Amino acid sequence: MRTSFVAGNWKMNTNKASAVALATAVAAGAPARVQVGVAPPFVYLDAVGQALKGSTVRLGAQDVCAEKNGAYTGACSCEMMADLGVNFILTGHSERRHFFKEPGDVVAKKAAAVLAGGFTLVHCVGEKLEERDANKTLDVVQAQLNEIDPKLAGDKGPDKLVIAYEPVWAIGTGRNATDQQAQEVHAFIRSALARRWNKDFADRVRIQYGGSMKPENAKGLLSQPDVDGGLIGGAALKADSFLAIANAAD
Ligand code: PGA
Repeated sequence: MRTSFVAGNWKMNTNKASAVALATAVAAGAPARVQVGVAPPFVYLDAVGQALKGSTVRLGAQDVCAEKNGAYTGACSCEMMADLGVNFILTGHSERRHFFKEPGDVVAKKAAAVLAGGFTLVHCVGEKLEERDANKTLDVVQAQLNEIDPKLAGDKGPDKLVIAYEPVWAIGTGRNATDQQAQEVHAFIRSALARRWNKDFADRVRIQYGGSMKPENAKGLLSQPDVDGGLIGGAALKADSFLAIANAAD
Protein backbone atom coordinates (compact mmCIF):
# COMPACT_ATOMS: atom_id res chain seq x y z
CA MET A 1 0.00 0.00 0.00
CA ARG A 2 2.96 2.35 0.66
CA THR A 3 5.72 2.88 -1.89
CA SER A 4 9.06 2.76 -0.10
CA PHE A 5 11.09 5.94 -0.20
CA VAL A 6 14.87 5.79 0.09
CA ALA A 7 16.63 9.15 0.23
CA GLY A 8 20.30 10.04 0.39
CA ASN A 9 21.26 12.90 2.65
CA TRP A 10 24.66 13.96 1.38
CA LYS A 11 25.15 16.49 4.21
CA MET A 12 28.22 18.73 3.67
CA ASN A 13 29.98 16.32 1.32
CA THR A 14 30.90 16.09 -2.39
CA ASN A 15 32.16 18.74 -4.74
CA LYS A 16 30.46 19.78 -7.96
CA ALA A 17 32.06 17.06 -10.08
CA SER A 18 31.55 14.24 -7.57
CA ALA A 19 27.98 15.36 -6.84
CA VAL A 20 27.10 15.19 -10.54
CA ALA A 21 28.87 11.82 -10.92
CA LEU A 22 27.04 10.38 -7.90
CA ALA A 23 23.66 11.68 -9.08
CA THR A 24 24.26 10.30 -12.56
CA ALA A 25 25.11 6.85 -11.20
CA VAL A 26 22.08 6.87 -8.86
CA ALA A 27 19.80 7.92 -11.74
CA ALA A 28 21.13 5.10 -13.91
CA GLY A 29 20.65 2.40 -11.27
CA ALA A 30 17.57 3.40 -9.27
CA PRO A 31 15.03 0.57 -8.95
CA ALA A 32 11.67 1.27 -10.59
CA ARG A 33 9.38 0.24 -7.75
CA VAL A 34 11.04 2.28 -5.01
CA GLN A 35 10.96 6.06 -4.73
CA VAL A 36 14.55 7.26 -4.66
CA GLY A 37 15.78 10.74 -3.83
CA VAL A 38 19.01 12.60 -3.17
CA ALA A 39 19.59 15.72 -1.10
CA PRO A 40 22.88 17.39 -2.10
CA PRO A 41 24.30 20.56 -0.54
CA PHE A 42 22.37 23.70 -1.62
CA VAL A 43 25.13 24.89 -3.93
CA TYR A 44 24.94 21.71 -6.03
CA LEU A 45 21.14 21.46 -6.26
CA ASP A 46 21.10 22.98 -9.71
CA ALA A 47 23.85 20.76 -11.15
CA VAL A 48 22.44 17.62 -9.52
CA GLY A 49 18.94 18.52 -10.75
CA GLN A 50 20.32 18.69 -14.30
CA ALA A 51 22.03 15.31 -13.86
CA LEU A 52 18.75 13.75 -12.67
CA LYS A 53 16.71 15.09 -15.62
CA GLY A 54 14.78 12.33 -17.37
CA SER A 55 15.13 9.96 -14.40
CA THR A 56 12.66 9.15 -11.63
CA VAL A 57 15.07 10.19 -8.88
CA ARG A 58 13.76 13.08 -6.81
CA LEU A 59 15.75 16.14 -5.86
CA GLY A 60 15.73 17.08 -2.19
CA ALA A 61 17.01 19.88 0.01
CA GLN A 62 18.58 19.29 3.44
CA ASP A 63 17.11 22.41 5.01
CA VAL A 64 15.28 25.62 4.16
CA CYS A 65 14.48 29.00 5.69
CA ALA A 66 10.83 29.54 6.63
CA GLU A 67 10.89 33.21 5.59
CA LYS A 68 9.80 34.17 2.09
CA ASN A 69 12.62 36.58 1.22
CA GLY A 70 14.53 39.48 2.66
CA ALA A 71 17.45 40.16 4.98
CA TYR A 72 18.31 36.61 6.11
CA THR A 73 22.01 36.26 5.44
CA GLY A 74 23.06 32.80 4.35
CA ALA A 75 19.53 31.43 4.04
CA CYS A 76 17.56 29.96 1.11
CA SER A 77 13.79 30.11 0.70
CA CYS A 78 11.17 27.62 -0.44
CA GLU A 79 10.65 29.70 -3.56
CA MET A 80 14.32 29.25 -4.45
CA MET A 81 13.93 25.49 -3.92
CA ALA A 82 10.92 25.39 -6.24
CA ASP A 83 12.90 27.33 -8.81
CA LEU A 84 15.52 24.55 -8.85
CA GLY A 85 13.00 21.70 -9.12
CA VAL A 86 13.29 20.51 -5.52
CA ASN A 87 10.68 17.87 -4.65
CA PHE A 88 11.26 17.13 -0.96
CA ILE A 89 12.78 19.06 1.93
CA LEU A 90 14.11 17.78 5.26
CA THR A 91 13.19 19.52 8.49
CA GLY A 92 14.35 18.83 12.01
CA HIS A 93 17.38 16.75 11.13
CA SER A 94 19.26 16.04 14.36
CA GLU A 95 22.32 17.93 13.10
CA ARG A 96 20.12 21.01 12.63
CA ARG A 97 18.50 20.54 16.02
CA HIS A 98 21.61 19.74 18.04
CA PHE A 99 24.66 21.01 16.19
CA PHE A 100 23.03 24.20 14.89
CA LYS A 101 20.82 24.53 18.00
CA GLU A 102 17.62 24.89 15.99
CA PRO A 103 14.72 24.99 18.47
CA GLY A 104 11.40 23.23 17.95
CA ASP A 105 9.48 26.40 17.10
CA VAL A 106 11.90 27.17 14.27
CA VAL A 107 11.63 23.58 13.01
CA ALA A 108 7.84 23.90 13.13
CA LYS A 109 7.89 27.10 11.05
CA LYS A 110 10.12 25.44 8.47
CA ALA A 111 7.86 22.37 8.28
CA ALA A 112 4.85 24.63 7.72
CA ALA A 113 6.66 26.56 4.97
CA VAL A 114 7.63 23.30 3.24
CA LEU A 115 4.06 21.98 3.25
CA ALA A 116 2.59 25.35 2.23
CA GLY A 117 5.08 25.42 -0.65
CA GLY A 118 3.71 22.15 -1.99
CA PHE A 119 6.85 20.09 -1.34
CA THR A 120 7.02 16.68 0.26
CA LEU A 121 8.00 17.23 3.87
CA VAL A 122 10.54 14.79 5.34
CA HIS A 123 10.26 15.58 9.03
CA CYS A 124 13.05 14.04 11.12
CA VAL A 125 12.49 12.93 14.69
CA GLY A 126 14.60 10.95 17.13
CA GLU A 127 15.93 10.74 20.66
CA LYS A 128 19.39 11.23 22.07
CA LEU A 129 21.06 8.36 23.90
CA GLU A 130 20.42 9.86 27.34
CA GLU A 131 16.75 10.27 26.44
CA ARG A 132 16.51 6.61 25.41
CA ASP A 133 18.26 5.56 28.61
CA ALA A 134 15.80 7.66 30.63
CA ASN A 135 12.85 5.99 28.84
CA LYS A 136 11.90 9.26 27.16
CA THR A 137 12.11 8.10 23.54
CA LEU A 138 8.38 8.17 22.83
CA ASP A 139 7.87 11.52 24.60
CA VAL A 140 10.65 13.12 22.55
CA VAL A 141 9.33 11.66 19.31
CA GLN A 142 5.77 12.75 20.14
CA ALA A 143 6.90 16.33 20.87
CA GLN A 144 8.78 16.47 17.57
CA LEU A 145 5.77 15.09 15.67
CA ASN A 146 3.69 17.86 17.25
CA GLU A 147 5.81 20.39 15.31
CA ILE A 148 3.80 19.48 12.20
CA ASP A 149 0.74 21.71 11.68
CA PRO A 150 -2.22 19.29 11.71
CA LYS A 151 -4.49 21.40 9.52
CA LEU A 152 -1.85 22.09 6.87
CA ALA A 153 -0.63 18.48 6.70
CA GLY A 154 -4.24 17.26 6.63
CA ASP A 155 -5.03 19.57 3.72
CA LYS A 156 -1.96 18.52 1.73
CA GLY A 157 -2.59 14.83 2.33
CA PRO A 158 -0.56 11.85 3.52
CA ASP A 159 1.50 11.53 0.31
CA LYS A 160 3.18 14.86 1.07
CA LEU A 161 4.27 13.81 4.53
CA VAL A 162 7.20 11.54 5.34
CA ILE A 163 8.53 10.98 8.84
CA ALA A 164 12.17 9.96 9.27
CA TYR A 165 12.87 8.23 12.57
CA GLU A 166 16.55 8.80 13.26
CA PRO A 167 17.78 7.93 16.74
CA VAL A 168 20.55 10.47 17.35
CA TRP A 169 22.85 7.80 18.82
CA ALA A 170 22.68 5.88 15.54
CA ILE A 171 23.52 8.74 13.17
CA GLY A 172 26.99 8.47 11.72
CA THR A 173 28.09 6.22 14.57
CA GLY A 174 27.99 2.84 12.82
CA ARG A 175 25.60 1.71 15.56
CA ASN A 176 22.15 1.23 14.01
CA ALA A 177 18.94 0.59 15.90
CA THR A 178 18.01 -3.09 15.93
CA ASP A 179 15.13 -4.16 13.69
CA GLN A 180 12.98 -4.46 16.79
CA GLN A 181 13.95 -1.06 18.26
CA ALA A 182 13.15 0.59 14.92
CA GLN A 183 9.82 -1.20 14.48
CA GLU A 184 8.76 -0.32 18.02
CA VAL A 185 9.21 3.42 17.46
CA HIS A 186 7.84 3.31 13.90
CA ALA A 187 4.67 1.61 15.16
CA PHE A 188 4.38 4.28 17.85
CA ILE A 189 4.77 7.02 15.21
CA ARG A 190 2.04 5.48 13.08
CA SER A 191 -0.32 5.28 16.04
CA ALA A 192 0.51 8.91 16.91
CA LEU A 193 -0.30 9.93 13.32
CA ALA A 194 -3.61 8.06 13.55
CA ARG A 195 -4.47 9.93 16.76
CA ARG A 196 -3.57 13.26 15.16
CA TRP A 197 -5.34 12.67 11.83
CA ASN A 198 -6.95 9.25 11.36
CA LYS A 199 -6.00 5.66 10.63
CA ASP A 200 -6.37 5.93 6.87
CA PHE A 201 -4.08 8.97 6.81
CA ALA A 202 -1.55 7.28 9.10
CA ASP A 203 -1.54 4.13 6.98
CA ARG A 204 -0.46 6.15 3.94
CA VAL A 205 2.38 8.16 5.49
CA ARG A 206 5.84 6.74 4.78
CA ILE A 207 8.07 6.37 7.84
CA GLN A 208 11.77 6.12 7.00
CA TYR A 209 14.44 4.79 9.29
CA GLY A 210 17.76 6.65 9.43
CA GLY A 211 20.96 6.10 11.37
CA SER A 212 23.84 3.95 10.11
CA MET A 213 21.70 2.12 7.58
CA LYS A 214 23.94 0.23 5.18
CA PRO A 215 23.61 -2.64 2.71
CA GLU A 216 24.37 -5.19 5.46
CA ASN A 217 21.55 -4.13 7.78
CA ALA A 218 19.08 -2.66 5.28
CA LYS A 219 17.05 -5.78 4.53
CA GLY A 220 16.27 -6.50 8.18
CA LEU A 221 15.25 -2.92 8.94
CA LEU A 222 13.30 -2.42 5.71
CA SER A 223 11.32 -5.62 6.14
CA GLN A 224 9.76 -4.37 9.38
CA PRO A 225 6.04 -3.72 8.81
CA ASP A 226 6.20 0.01 9.65
CA VAL A 227 9.57 0.81 8.06
CA ASP A 228 8.88 2.29 4.62
CA GLY A 229 12.32 3.26 3.45
CA GLY A 230 15.42 4.96 4.72
CA LEU A 231 17.19 8.27 5.09
CA ILE A 232 20.79 7.43 4.37
CA GLY A 233 23.84 9.51 5.24
CA GLY A 234 27.29 7.91 4.96
CA ALA A 235 26.20 4.99 2.79
CA ALA A 236 24.56 7.39 0.31
CA LEU A 237 27.91 8.85 -0.72
CA LYS A 238 28.73 5.80 -2.84
CA ALA A 239 26.30 4.84 -5.60
CA ASP A 240 26.87 1.11 -5.06
CA SER A 241 25.99 1.05 -1.38
CA PHE A 242 23.10 3.52 -1.77
CA LEU A 243 21.60 1.53 -4.65
CA ALA A 244 22.03 -1.71 -2.70
CA ILE A 245 19.91 -0.17 0.08
CA ALA A 246 17.35 1.11 -2.42
CA ASN A 247 17.13 -2.37 -3.94
CA ALA A 248 16.67 -3.87 -0.47
CA ALA A 249 13.52 -1.72 -0.17
CA ASP A 250 12.01 -3.28 -3.31
P1 PGA B 1 24.04 8.05 8.61
O1 PGA B 1 23.16 9.40 8.60
O2 PGA B 1 23.40 7.10 7.64
O3 PGA B 1 25.40 8.48 8.21
O4 PGA B 1 23.98 7.52 10.02
C1 PGA B 1 21.77 9.36 8.48
C2 PGA B 1 21.20 10.76 8.53
O5 PGA B 1 21.70 11.58 9.31
O6 PGA B 1 20.24 11.12 7.80
